[in-house]
Amino acid sequence: VPDDRPRPRRAHAATDLRTAAVWAELSAAVEEYAARLGRPLRVVDLGGGTGGLSVPLAEAGHAVVVVDPSPDALASLRRRADECGVADRVVAVQGDSDSLPQALAAATGIAGAAAAPGAVGEAAAAQVDLVCCHGTLEHVDDPGQTLARIAEVLPEGGLLSLVTAQRPAAVLARALAGQFDRAAALLDSPDGRWGSDDPAPRRFDRSAIVALVEQAGLTPLSVHGVRILSDLVPSAHLDSETDRARLLALEQAIVTHREFAVLGELGAAVHVLARHG
Ligand SMILES: C[S@@+](CC[C@H](N)C(=O)[O-])C[C@H]1O[C@@H](n2cnc3c(N)ncnc32)[C@H](O)[C@@H]1O
Repeated sequence: VPDDRPRPRRAHAATDLRTAAVWAELSAAVEEYAARLGRPLRVVDLGGGTGGLSVPLAEAGHAVVVVDPSPDALASLRRRADECGVADRVVAVQGDSDSLPQALAAATGIAGAAAAPGAVGEAAAAQVDLVCCHGTLEHVDDPGQTLARIAEVLPEGGLLSLVTAQRPAAVLARALAGQFDRAAALLDSPDGRWGSDDPAPRRFDRSAIVALVEQAGLTPLSVHGVRILSDLVPSAHLDSETDRARLLALEQAIVTHREFAVLGELGAAVHVLARHG
């Protein structure tokens, strides 16, 4: 029986203001790496949620394992992958950052890998070319340990795409909203929050995130601020596709401009592309 229920209209990573700049950089790196390897990539999306990134990657021909602790998110992901016709290239596994090697071993059917310490990560690493960790590092208990787990499942030369919240943007946003106490509290807060009522679990400084990536044995290839203006511009100014495209082009011009690249440090998030080794 044909299923003629209306499909939800979802934003695509390539056009959504929050993700377009990251998608542009990531998809270029993915295409280049896949061309070098001569095959589609094997991707792990840690904290991949409902599939906003993994489904477009699968649509581009890559095989993705999504590891996420939320059963609801994984159920939505499976539905989305099915609707987009890529269910055969998306595997959803319930797990978290601490159990990443084990979750991956289970997903890829690595038998007996638990026998020796370190063997799980080693065996899993043979199955991975790219780990994506977008919007997830701020949620984990120990970001350093999460990056160590990622490095464990990533072979030498493998890529990490990391997107996480930056603290300076929150200071600016709170000040522009007239919330000067919150802006001031953010300046000295070690976890980048203004207080216990801050909905964000954590925000990072650029130098701290780069240091954490390096401590895990990964070499940053590029570090760009994203959502520099888009989170600040009132939505009333963004009611057409043309306006959104112009704003994205402006953000792109800012991060690649010799004098203005520094404004990237005011992005609500930072995108780090790194290579293992
Ligand atoms: C803000 S969502 C980001 C979803 C998706 N990556 C994106 O960019 O749209 C954060 C995701 O991290 C997941 N998460 C929370 N704690 C986690 C952990 N310790 N390990 C892995 N994923 C976790 C949540 O279930 C949720 O799906």
